[in-house]
Amino acid sequence: MNPVNHKYVYIHTIGCQMNVYDTSRIISSLQAIGYDHTSIMEKADLIIVNTCSVREKAEQKAFSFLGRLPSLKKEYPRLIVGVGGCLAQQEGKAIFKRAPFVDIVFGTHAVGRLPARISEIEKNSQKIVDIEFATFIEPILPSENPKNTPVSGFVTIMRGCDNFCTYCIVPYVRGREISRKPEEILNEIKAYADSGMREITLLGQNVNSYGKKEGLCSFPELLEKVNQINGISRIRFTTSHPKDLSDDLITCFSTLDRLCNHIHLPVQSGSNNILKKMNRKYTRELYLEKIEKLRAACPDIAITSDMIVGFPGETDADFEDTLDLMKRVEFDGLFAFSYSDRPHAPSVHFTEKVSEMVKKERLQQVLNLQETYTRTKNKTRVGKIESVLVEGLSKKSPDTEPLAGATGFPGKADENQYTGRTTSNKIVNFLWKENPLSGHFLTPGEIIHIKITRALSHSLWGDPVDPGISSQDIKGEHYAA
Ligand code: SAH
Ligand code: SF4
Ligand code: F3S
Repeated sequence: MNPVNHKYVYIHTIGCQMNVYDTSRIISSLQAIGYDHTSIMEKADLIIVNTCSVREKAEQKAFSFLGRLPSLKKEYPRLIVGVGGCLAQQEGKAIFKRAPFVDIVFGTHAVGRLPARISEIEKNSQKIVDIEFATFIEPILPSENPKNTPVSGFVTIMRGCDNFCTYCIVPYVRGREISRKPEEILNEIKAYADSGMREITLLGQNVNSYGKKEGLCSFPELLEKVNQINGISRIRFTTSHPKDLSDDLITCFSTLDRLCNHIHLPVQSGSNNILKKMNRKYTRELYLEKIEKLRAACPDIAITSDMIVGFPGETDADFEDTLDLMKRVEFDGLFAFSYSDRPHAPSVHFTEKVSEMVKKERLQQVLNLQETYTRTKNKTRVGKIESVLVEGLSKKSPDTEPLAGATGFPGKADENQYTGRTTSNKIVNFLWKENPLSGHFLTPGEIIHIKITRALSHSLWGDPVDPGISSQDIKGEHYAA
């Protein structure tokens, strides 16, 4: 397909931010054997799908993508097809049964070995399975900023999980928890800051236990160090397990000026009975207590969460407890999922499965209730001035439904419509050319003040204001106009 010695790799990524980060590491590792990254699938000599297996749907996505490849392989027989990531780790050679045209199945710890494996296939065309676990994280840095905006990036600080929630596949496909050394993490972030990145999201399945096993610094100590890196003006992290959310970490929200006013704190259920069956190791009371502490430390904090409905044995009363918890917390946003049986996860064997119909109904109820809170939370921002990290021109208007009661209506997307985020992680769209200050083009990475004028379902609209009004901090507390 391509001239000799000029090879291209195309990667399709499914799953969480850690997979997005790993995709960048895969691209980086393959550069050593002459592969350039392409976003055009037809141009590729090597096509990889980096898979997820957290729910059955993710698994289906991988196979539906793979279903597009046999015709390409027919056209270009030397095309190499790889399946990596969590589903690859879970299924191993069974992938070949469902997709016989696949050349290599590689697991979540195999990125460092991938170039040698691909070279073997180039020489001998044999099929390879590499799903060995390693006891260390290979020091492979991402090739490029692993997020879709150059001003904001991810850094994985740890891999794996030791929590074994009974529904979850992650501990089985990502292995035991292991943390990267602080110096490595800090050097990576410094390099991103030098290249213009302004916001960094630290990633781990349970960041609260960062460094504990290895006797490294604690997570709050790591945050303090990141807070001192020149050029980084915003820090986020995900995910935090409620049972391990320490007072020290809560205090960081009031003491670290660059830590954003947002926490993603997955609760999974509002019922103590179900939380116990899930092996979450906290009660709804403890969860609510942590929420109270977070709001005391940072009154403006946005709180988002994950919720599973229809876990085996979930009764109507258990589900009512979930709705009740949502009413008490009023999350800014919620990812709600219908329980899905996963291989290896102990809950596969739990009896009293909830029917698909009931799961669907419950999911809808949760989504409807959350929608009211998301809208209300957005509406409370109207009239406030927010610090917004400019990400760039917005491609299109993402949200055109005005909220009831909102005045005015945003015009159509045009070349001067910009997009950015508040420190509470809400998307803000605004027009720059209509502002009297539009003497200069906005540069992605700038933090500007926007007066919020309209709240839509999933984003805000606003007008840039005189930067002279700014508070001294870059944390972006909002104040009444
Ligand atoms: N480490 C994170 C979550 C990782 S998985 C944490 O502890 O919160 C992301 C989300 O997927 C989970 O929070 C959970 O809500 C959902 N999830 C995981 N396994 C699931 C399953 N078997 N069925 C439905 N949702 C699931
Ligand atoms: Fe899965 Fe629980 Fe670990 Fe999160 S903490 S990755 S839900 S086992
Ligand atoms: Fe999916 Fe693996 Fe992430 S299972 S959610 S890609 S850790």
